[in-house]
Formats: sequence, C-alpha cells, structure tokens
Amino acid sequence: MAGRADKTGNRGRAGVTLPPEVDLSRPSIARVYDFILGGKEHFEIDRRATDAIFAAVPQIGSLARDNRNLLRRATRYLVRDAGLRQIIDLGSGLPTLGNVHEIAHEVDRDVRVVYVDNDPVVLAHGRALLSQENTTTMIMADIREPDSVFDNPAVKEFIDFDEPFAVIAASILHHLTDAEVLPAAAAIRNRLTVGSYLVTTNFLDDDEDRAKDLEKAFLDGGLGTGRFRTWEELRRLFDGLEMLEPGLVYGNDWHPDELTPADSPVHTLFSAGMARKVS
Ligand SMILES: C[S@@+](CC[C@H](N)C(=O)[O-])C[C@H]1O[C@@H](n2cnc3c(N)ncnc32)[C@H](O)[C@@H]1O
Repeated sequence: MAGRADKTGNRGRAGVTLPPEVDLSRPSIARVYDFILGGKEHFEIDRRATDAIFAAVPQIGSLARDNRNLLRRATRYLVRDAGLRQIIDLGSGLPTLGNVHEIAHEVDRDVRVVYVDNDPVVLAHGRALLSQENTTTMIMADIREPDSVFDNPAVKEFIDFDEPFAVIAASILHHLTDAEVLPAAAAIRNRLTVGSYLVTTNFLDDDEDRAKDLEKAFLDGGLGTGRFRTWEELRRLFDGLEMLEPGLVYGNDWHPDELTPADSPVHTLFSAGMARKVS
C-alpha cells in the first residue's frame, strides 16, 4: 500500500507495504521515537502521544539524538575495539540515519547483524531496507520472551552461538515493566557465550524532577511505557558480567568522541553501559 492513505489519513513511505496487523488505534514506541528523531514514519496517534513528553522536556529530541550517537560509538567499539563479528540488536527501531549494520560495515563488511523488534511497521521497513543485504537480517520477536529471539531459526542461521557476539539493547529495556525487565535481562545474559558483550542504554532517574516528569509523560501520556530507573536498578541489568570502562555512566560520558555533544541539555537523563561475559 505504498503511498496509500491509511485509516487516519496518513501515508506510509513510498515502496513499503504496511502489514494489516499494524494497529493505528494506539501509538507505537517505534513510531513515536521516529517522530521525536525527526523521521517520517509516524501517524497522528503517535504525534499526539508526544505532546506530554515535549511538554515535560522540550529538548527530548536531544535525548533521542544523543542515544543514536551513543549507539554509533558503541557499535564501532564492539567491532573495531572488541573485534566482534556478530551483533544482535534488540528493539532496533525504524531504520534511520546510522543503522547498526551500516556502522559495523564501515569497519568490516562481513559483520553479521540481526535486528529484532516486535513492531510490524519496523519489520516492514527493515525488510525493505535489507532486501539486498546478505550479512544482515531482521526478525519480529518480543524480548520479553528471549527464547523466541535466540531460538529463532533465522537468528541461528546468522549468529554462531559458539563464538562471542554482542547484544545491543538500546533504549528498549525502559519500555519493559519492573516485573519484566530483570527476568528478560537475566535470560539474555544466560544466552551469552563467554567473551560476548551486552550494551544497553536506558532512561535514567538520577533523582531529578525532569526524570520524574518525563516518566509520567511517557506512562500517562498515551504511550504507556517508559520507566526512568535509578543507577542501582540499572546496574542489576549487568549482574554477573564484567563492566567495561568507564562503567555505567551518563550516556554522553561513555567513550565520547568529537561528535558527542559536550553540552547536551539532557545529559543526566540517560545512561549507558557495556559489559562482557567472562565465565
Ligand atoms: C526507542 S526505540 C529504540 C530504537 C533503537 N534501539 C535506538 O536506540 O535508537 C525502541 C524499540 O524497541 C521496540 N520494542 C519495544 N518493546 C519491545 C519488545 N518487548 N520486544 C521487541 N522490541 C520491542 C520498539 O518497537 C522500538 O522499535
């Protein structure tokens, strides 16, 4: 239905058929994030869900961009510095500037990347983008059921689980509830081969009113998910793994480079950390 008006009167990106299971009666995390990033794949219902978010922190766009910037640095580190050649990107989101496989392939064209998301719009766009790729694929799965990711035949085809690999969980775990997040993180860690890496970025509650306001805007403003967690809560995501320098830190303090904003207005609202499984 390329270019065809949907039930809200919006149009999908030309060339991509939106699957029938797309639910336009509720905002989607992926489409809301795309809107905040300045992308094109969102509908009226998604834009409306951002009203409370922009009202709470008008610079929310900087948070999304800083997160993408971190994703670039972390991916480059995994491939260039840690020497990994296989990556599973959980909650990959709609394709945008600087996708993980593109960053990885700047270092080594043979790095294999599996994108995972539970949003059918992401799957449709991802598959369209990747149709010519033989080192990168995308599957639809829910990370609250980690077996559905790691036992997926397409994942097994791309990832050699006898060799170290990286799991990226960028800006996804805060969309899991408190009851869901630790079991999911534990199950992911259990699946890591020794020598594998886990990197995650998350909304941070560093005891700041803005974090509490934003959390309320995410939870009550239509989207319904978006937990801001404390340092202590976030550290538990890495239980049993060896944290790499500089540890769990504000996102922009994680291996900043010349493209990392030094004066981000949302510096204290998101965290990042990378860890390795050593035994
Ligand atoms: C905010 S976006 C992050 C995109 C990208 N990882 C980044 O950091 O730029 C979160 C993504 O996670 C996906 N997601 C949320 N909950 C999920 C779940 N339980 N299983 C799989 N994907 C999920 C959403 O559909 C969305 O595309």
